[in-house]
Amino acid sequence: MIKLENLSVSYDGEYFAVNNVNLNIQKGEFIGVIGSSGSGKSSLLKTINKLVEPKTGKIIIDDEDITSYEEKKLRGVRRKIGMIFQDYNLIERSTVLENVLMGRLGYKSKLDTILGRFTESEYALAEKALKNVGLEDKIFERADNLSGGQKQRVSIAKALCQQPKIILADEPVASLDIQTSKVVMDYFKMVNFKKNMTIVLNIHDVNLAREYCSRIVALHKGKIVFDGSAGELDDEILERIYL
Ligand SMILES: Nc1ncnc2c1ncn2[C@@H]1O[C@H](COP(=O)(O)OP(=O)(O)OP(=O)(O)O)[C@@H](O)[C@H]1O
Ligand SMILES: [Mg+2]
Repeated sequence: MIKLENLSVSYDGEYFAVNNVNLNIQKGEFIGVIGSSGSGKSSLLKTINKLVEPKTGKIIIDDEDITSYEEKKLRGVRRKIGMIFQDYNLIERSTVLENVLMGRLGYKSKLDTILGRFTESEYALAEKALKNVGLEDKIFERADNLSGGQKQRVSIAKALCQQPKIILADEPVASLDIQTSKVVMDYFKMVNFKKNMTIVLNIHDVNLAREYCSRIVALHKGKIVFDGSAGELDDEILERIYL
């Protein structure tokens, strides 16, 4: 469902932030991408929906080669892919419900977007998504009144409201304490399990990656140096990645 072939990214034309990466991701996989700071995790993730342009290689989503797609064609592709960021990416002054409805923007006209016109079924979808992350009682709360963990759960609900096939999450728990991180990771796991959602998640906490992700991909200087199950990730590989 996601296929990256000989993918490279370079910002300055010299150093390769992503260096000849080959990766096949099947539907329903929960992948943790680990690696030290600057190893290329964010660059790799953002290349999947072309927020970052690759220098070489191919990006294939659901058998569709999107490598050379321009903005207009990308709209349809990006609809299939929910993005979640470390800083939650919410509109702080809007309510939880309004934020979750933002997940529908990829389906709407410019005018509907500006006027905030959503259908009954979209409201129902947003409420269901909030129920999924256990926030149904916060629906009319302003986003800035929520804790970090709750904000990240809102951004998961927003991604669910988009009805994507894939969720890409860039360090979604990096701003959270370990207890809250686990609560948020439990929701990712639930979404992965219940909806068979494909999730690719950048995470610097190796223990959390091991605990939650079914497959771990490790990057070092833009290259994949490990790709396997949590159990196969031994100290020798960890030393290579982090030391
Ligand atoms: N927009 C950019 N312009 C120029 N260089 C960039 C840009 N984004 C990333 N880089 C460089 O690309 C390399 C990979 O960075 P990237 O952000 O992908 O790593 P990362 O693994 O996500 O790091 P972190 O764990 O700190 O988030 C680094 O050398 C970084 O300095
Ligand atoms: Mg990063």
